[in-house]
This record gives sequence, C-alpha cells and structure tokens, in this order.
Amino acid sequence: MNWNYTQPVEIIFGRGSLLKLSGLLNEFKKPIIVSEEYFLKNGLIDKILSAINADVFTEVSPNPDVTEVNKCSSQIRKNGNDVIIAIGGGSVIDLSKSASITVEDIREYHGTGKNVPDDHIPIIAVPTTSGTGSEVTNASVLTDREIGKKAPIVSGSFFPKIALVDPELTVSMPQKVTASTGIDVLCHAVEGYWSKGHQPICDALAVRSAKLVFEYLPKVYDDPDDIESREKMSEASLIGGLAFSLPKTTSSHACSFPITSIYNVPHGEACSLTLDFFARVNAVDNRTVQLASELGFGSVEEFADAISELKKRVGLRTDLSEFELTDENIDELVKKSHHPNLLNNPVEITDEILYELYNNLR
Ligand SMILES: [Fe+2]
Repeated sequence: MNWNYTQPVEIIFGRGSLLKLSGLLNEFKKPIIVSEEYFLKNGLIDKILSAINADVFTEVSPNPDVTEVNKCSSQIRKNGNDVIIAIGGGSVIDLSKSASITVEDIREYHGTGKNVPDDHIPIIAVPTTSGTGSEVTNASVLTDREIGKKAPIVSGSFFPKIALVDPELTVSMPQKVTASTGIDVLCHAVEGYWSKGHQPICDALAVRSAKLVFEYLPKVYDDPDDIESREKMSEASLIGGLAFSLPKTTSSHACSFPITSIYNVPHGEACSLTLDFFARVNAVDNRTVQLASELGFGSVEEFADAISELKKRVGLRTDLSEFELTDENIDELVKKSHHPNLLNNPVEITDEILYELYNNLR
C-alpha cells in the first residue's frame, strides 16, 4: 500500500493558550479578526482587542454564504490586512479560508472544479467549538443560498498557518451546539477510517478521536463546565480533523449537505442522522469490521447501535419525521446526495440504498 501524509499546520494546544495570540502576530502589520456577533456581545473580542490592534469582521452566519465571503474579502482588500485571526466555530474558519484568497467572487470556485489561486493571506485559526476540525483541514464549506447549493471548496491554500486551540473557549458553547459539533467529530473519525482514501496515520488518529467522543461527549453534554472533558473533546476534534483531512469523508457527509441546505438541520446532527445506517451498510467491508473491533465493540451491529444510543443520549434527532417528507422530498434528497464524497464510501451507495435510508428516516 502506497500513501502520503502532509500536515502543514502548526498546532498550539492547551488551556489558556489564547494568551499566546499577541506573540504570534509579531511578523504581521495589519490583522483582521473574523468572528461572529456572539463574541462581540460576550466580550471576547474586546478582551483580545485590549492586547492587539486589529480590524473586525463579524458578518458570518451558521452556514456561511458566498456573499458573506465576498464581503469579507472586499474588506480585507480595502484594509490591506495581512493576516486573519479566525475566532469561532467551523463557519467562521471556513469563511476565513475562502476570504483569505481575497478574490472578487468566490462563486467562481464554489463547486466548479476551478483551481483556487495559491496567493493568500495566512490564517491563525482559534476554534471555539470542538467539532469541525476546520483548524487543521484544507476545506471550506460554503452555501450559495440563491441557488440552494452547499459544497466544500478544497485547496492547499486553505490550510491555516497556525491552529491555536484553547479548550477554555469551548465552554461558552450552548448544549445543542456541543451535541451537534461533538457528533460531527465522530463522523469525521469514522468516515476518515472507512474511506477508500484511508492510510495508517489517519487510521490511528481516527480510532483515538472516536474513542474520546464516545467517552467524553456525554460528559460535556451533562456538564458544560467540565473543563477536563472539554479539553478531551477539543483534542478529539483536532485529531479527528487530521483523521479525515486526507482520506476525506464519505456517505454521511455527502447526505448531510442536502439535509442541511433544505431542512436546516445543523451540520453535525445532519451527518450523524445517517452514520449508524451506513455503518450497517458497510458491515460487509473488512475495515469497518476492524474499526468496530478497535473501538471495543463485538460487531459492527453493536457499533451501529452505540452510535444510535449516543445520538439519543445527547438529545439529537434520530429521524426526519418532523418534516413529514413526501415522495418528492425523498426524490430530491436522493438526487442531491450524489456529492463526490459518496464515492469514497467503501461500499457502492446506489439510489436503492439511498431510498431505503431516507424512507427509514421518514
Ligand atoms: Fe463535518
């Protein structure tokens, strides 16, 4: 088996590591903080601005839109910013990646296959959720609401220069966000492992990450101030990001895109809606059997049951019944689930399987 491994992001991890931010900015003249309104209101941005000089951009929605990227890029060009400090969840970091190339219109690269330019300003990614792993990946997931498209743009230019991971920042996450982002980590680890693009380093990271989620997600869900468990979830998220960044995600992420863009189900929750189903579909794949065993389960069936249990335990949806899906809705979901990531699944996912999946979720 031949494989390559590249990981260009410097990682600084630990409680209180946010204090290191100003020291990391010495080589830059004009930083811009990209964040969300919430951190303006709760005082975090003011606290940072008391230590550094920076411009601020906070027009970022939960599933960042291409128009928000264009607005941020335009502000960066106008200000002459030379580094982005991305403070927030996956939405903020993903928007920052696409804005870092400062093009006029990001739509040119959104799902078009056109190569993203190499020229970009560096990003210091400071995650405030433990979920996307976006701080160590090269993908920027954007939505184009005007045409109802949600898709990632992937580019070597999008790797942050530094991931500054301070678990104390994740304590501010509401319980629902903790649950949804935390289960996204499990999807990254599991899909990275069973992906056709798997490789040994990512395998080891995936197993560690998935074990941490099974153990610590219920703990942070029950007690948001449990800082030791928050730290473990930050670790799970970071190494889960490394676990899927190269192998890529598979069927659950492919299906999550239409579930989120049409029904507004949060990303991680949308991915986890189908993870147990696909574990059962993939039970004929040796590597899925191996993963279940490495995680301490007696069979893939037990592993899939544990995923279902975990979703219930942390208050996530286990179906789409509230949307009262019609046959036409199911047709649309099946059609729009044919994202390229579906092809990374170890077992071929036919329309017949997708119809079974969505009919089960009705
Ligand atoms: Fe994800």
